[in-house]
Amino acid sequence: MIRGVVLDLDGVITDTAEYHYLAWKSLAEKIGIDIDRTFNEQLKGISRIESLELILEHGGKDQSYSEEEKEMLAGKKNDEYKTFIERITPADLCPGMKKLLLDAKEAGLALSVASASKNASTILEQLQVKDQFIGVVDPNSLKNGKPNPEIFYKGAELLGLSPAECIGIEDAEAGIDAINDAGMFSVGVGSKESMKAANYFVENTEELDLKKMIEKAENK
Ligand code: G6P
Ligand code: MG
Repeated sequence: MIRGVVLDLDGVITDTAEYHYLAWKSLAEKIGIDIDRTFNEQLKGISRIESLELILEHGGKDQSYSEEEKEMLAGKKNDEYKTFIERITPADLCPGMKKLLLDAKEAGLALSVASASKNASTILEQLQVKDQFIGVVDPNSLKNGKPNPEIFYKGAELLGLSPAECIGIEDAEAGIDAINDAGMFSVGVGSKESMKAANYFVENTEELDLKKMIEKAENK
């Protein structure tokens, strides 16, 4: 029986992907690397430092910086990113998310957030939905990032549930792999092509219907 939902944040609860992209693009330009939106797809769900490493590799500069310098560059990106997220309001909830959270509450489902973002709590506060979640997995406590299932195990653990009692919702391929490997029912938001590993997928968050997801998960 489904008793909980573990949600990714970026691209599921709110669309911060564009802000991450703008902040990375600006940082990359400063060090002579050009990135575009197609390249940015690879960064979804990936931690800050791993994202920087992918950008450096893309620009052929993966050997150019020490670990300390990389920390400094990642910090610069985060400073700019924070200026974007300061402006987030409840109006920035993804379409259909307000209803989904209400429906989950009514149905007595427990909710947690499994995001690689160290800014997740701030963003949930800006959106004024933080109190609707029992917990937010602390990415600092993780040994492995997505696609490793660790973050979804922790998301279920925060709810006191087994992964089999939860639905996981993600917009990144690495995230769907993580949910599947955790033994949770995976719901993908995105194109058929990118969400092909998901147990069930919808093209946008507006189509995330709680009843339907539970039905699919319980009749898997
Ligand atoms: C999410 C986003 C990634 C981002 C990561 C870390 O998974 O999809 O694009 O790099 O969080 O975010 P942070 O806010 O800690 O830099
Ligand atoms: Mg995401």
